[in-house]
Amino acid sequence: MAKSQKRVGILTAGGDSPGLNAAIRGFGKAAIGHHGMELIGFRDGIRGLAENRFIDLDSQALSGILTIGGTILGTSRDKPHKMRIGDEVVDMVPTILENCEKDGLDGLVCIGGGGTAKTANRLSKAGLNILHLPKTIDNDIAHTDTSFGFSTALGIATEAIDRLHSTAHSHHRIIVVELMGHKAGWLTLGAGIAGGADIILLPEIPYSLESVADSIRHRAAAGHSFSVVAIAEGARDHHDSRELAAAEALVKSATDPEAKQAAKAHRASVLASHRGNAFKLAEALETATGLESRVTILGYVQRGGTPDAQDRLLGTLLGGAGADLAARGEYGVTVASQGQAAVPVPLDEVAGHLKTVPLDHPWLLAARHVGTGMGD
Ligand code: F6P
Repeated sequence: MAKSQKRVGILTAGGDSPGLNAAIRGFGKAAIGHHGMELIGFRDGIRGLAENRFIDLDSQALSGILTIGGTILGTSRDKPHKMRIGDEVVDMVPTILENCEKDGLDGLVCIGGGGTAKTANRLSKAGLNILHLPKTIDNDIAHTDTSFGFSTALGIATEAIDRLHSTAHSHHRIIVVELMGHKAGWLTLGAGIAGGADIILLPEIPYSLESVADSIRHRAAAGHSFSVVAIAEGARDHHDSRELAAAEALVKSATDPEAKQAAKAHRASVLASHRGNAFKLAEALETATGLESRVTILGYVQRGGTPDAQDRLLGTLLGGAGADLAARGEYGVTVASQGQAAVPVPLDEVAGHLKTVPLDHPWLLAARHVGTGMGD
C-alpha cells in the first residue's frame, strides 16, 4: 500500500546558537500539525545520523522549546565523508544513506551554518531529499539576509560593549574586545556600531596598527583618554592578511594530494601563529599610545541563552516554510530569509559561498559617518 504519511528527519549541526529550537519547533509543528507528517530528531548532528541515534519528535517533545537556548537534539561538527571513528577517518555517506532508507525517511532537514550547507549539498548529491535551514551567529550564509542566531548575538555583544565603556573611561584605558563571526565581520560591525565602539576592525578590511593608534591619539587629544576597540576574531593586520591569503592560495592551487596536504598543514600553522591577535594588538597599542590596555574575549557568551524575539520569529518562519517545501516534495534547497519572505535557494548556490561584508555596505558608511576608526 502506498505510504501516505511522510516521515522526515531533522538534525542540528555546527556551532550551537539561539533560535535552533525555535526552528526545530517551527518545522515540527507545521510538519506534524499542518501536513500530518512523522518527525524524528537525530542526536548530535551528523554523528547521530551516521550512528542512527534519533528520538521521536511529537507535539509533546516540541512543546516549550521555543525559548530554550542551544539545541535539544545536540550538535557536532562532524562531516559525513570524513568522520573520525577511533583512529580512522571514514566516509560515512553510504551508511547514512542506508540509515535513511532503514528509517523510511522521505526527507532530511539539516539546520546549520555554512559548513552544514556544504554537508547538506553533499548528501543531496548522494541522493537524499535535503532541506537546509540557515543558522549561525556569523550571518555569513550566502543569499540569506539574516540567519537565525545573529540577532540575539548582536544584542549580547552590543550590551557587552556598552558595559566595557565603563572601565574604559573610568581607568582611561584602551579596551580591546574580540567578537566571534569566523571569517565575516557582520557581528563585529553591527555590535560595534550599536555599542558605540570607537574603532571597529573587520576581516574584510586589513588594518594598520599605526592607523588604529592614530585614531586613539586623536581621541585623547580631543579629551577622550579612553577607547573601545571591537575586533572581529578573523580581523588581521596587512601582514597577517597577506600571509593568510598566500597560504589559502597555496591550498587552492595544490593539485596532487600530497601537495594539498602540505599546503593545508602550512595554512594551519599560519592560522595558529595568528591566534591571540587581540592580545597582541592591545599590547602594541599600549606601547604606541602610552594608555593602559585590557582585553575581553566575548567568545561563547555570544551564542548562549534564550533567543531574542527576532530569532524566535525567524526560526519559526523559516521552519514552517521548510515544512511546506517538504510537503510539496521540494528539496535540494536552503530556506533563505530574503526581506520578510522565506525563499528556496538551490544548495549549489549556497554551499561553499561565504557572505562577507561588502566594502560599500550601508553599515560601513554608517560607522564612518559617526567617525568610527576602521583601521584603514
Ligand atoms: O560559527 C559560529 C562560531 O561561533 C564562530 O563565530 C566561531 O569562530 C566558531 O563557531 C567557534 O567554533 P567552535 O564552537 O567549534 O569552537
